[in-house]
Amino acid sequence: MHLALAPMAGITDQVFRGLCFEMGCNLATTEMVSAQGYLTAPADRNAYRFLLARQASEGPLAVQIFGSDPVHMENAAARLSQLGLFSAVDINMGCPAQKVVGGQSGSALMKDIPLAAEIVRRCVKASSLPVTVKMRIGWDENSINAVEFAKAVTDAGATALTVHGRTRKQQYSGKANWEEIGKVRQAVSVPVTANGDIWDAASALECARITGCDSLAMGRGALGNPWLFQEIKAAFEGTEWHKPPFEDIMKTALRHSREMIAWKGEKSGMLEMRKHLGWYVTGQRGVAKLRTRLNLATSLSQVEDLLSTLLQKNPEE
Ligand SMILES: Cc1cc2nc3c(=O)[nH]c(=O)nc-3n(C[C@H](O)[C@H](O)[C@H](O)COP(=O)(O)O)c2cc1C
Repeated sequence: MHLALAPMAGITDQVFRGLCFEMGCNLATTEMVSAQGYLTAPADRNAYRFLLARQASEGPLAVQIFGSDPVHMENAAARLSQLGLFSAVDINMGCPAQKVVGGQSGSALMKDIPLAAEIVRRCVKASSLPVTVKMRIGWDENSINAVEFAKAVTDAGATALTVHGRTRKQQYSGKANWEEIGKVRQAVSVPVTANGDIWDAASALECARITGCDSLAMGRGALGNPWLFQEIKAAFEGTEWHKPPFEDIMKTALRHSREMIAWKGEKSGMLEMRKHLGWYVTGQRGVAKLRTRLNLATSLSQVEDLLSTLLQKNPEE
């Protein structure tokens, strides 16, 4: 089974991806990058330096772009593929955020199949890398067009698809429709990665059974839990897997913090880490107050103190 880390803006940076690769992830994608923003930004703009950074130790990494202007998309795909950092250019046709769909990008492209296909065609022509598409199953429940859309973008040259089994209108609510993903898999000849609501081994097995896909992408289930890849891999291999002891989870949280701070500096690094630290301690007993304090932490030494206190309170793990 091929396991991918689903792209998540603000989360799937090089540090988090590095942890996921160590735990068995086979493919990751950068956070989404605005094609127009990238093309017009000064070369030394920090935002793009961070968005496009990758560690040498990472596995295959796709760079994800969004936009609605075929010329911008084509030019961004061409430039990004020349960096020598990425294994594919992935086009975001699934983002539901208003500021993205307002510009006719992301999941808004599912309402305009000719434009989506034109973007893919141009990116394929301009890029030396394979071009892939991340999509949803439609705009809303009255316009589920995943099969038609998938056929159009693969006819245009997309070499793989990731399908999040929700409509744009659902955003992240309701339950992912794995049956619809299965219909896409049957309709196209390129690999289809199933995505949405894979939280653990059981849901991964069930999703693979229903969709028939041999590639799965996990997003929210990996938050504070990069071990998800190990867990799912073990389930498909039929081997035993045990959740890491609490001490190991805290060690990983600390390592994640140290690497983030080494990369972004203490101030920005700590701001980035607050959400991750909250996710790492989720599910532990009596952490409500600690979570608030972690959220206010401004230095690595504060995080070290807070996590070691937590460790002493949970000696059995
Ligand atoms: C915080 C957050 C940020 C996301 N950012 C992106 C993104 O940049 N590009 C993208 O294609 N999908 C993005 N997604 C969608 C995820 O890749 C994935 O499709 C979705 O979360 C469903 O999978 P899951 O149930 O495993 O989380 C984002 C999701 C979340 C929760």
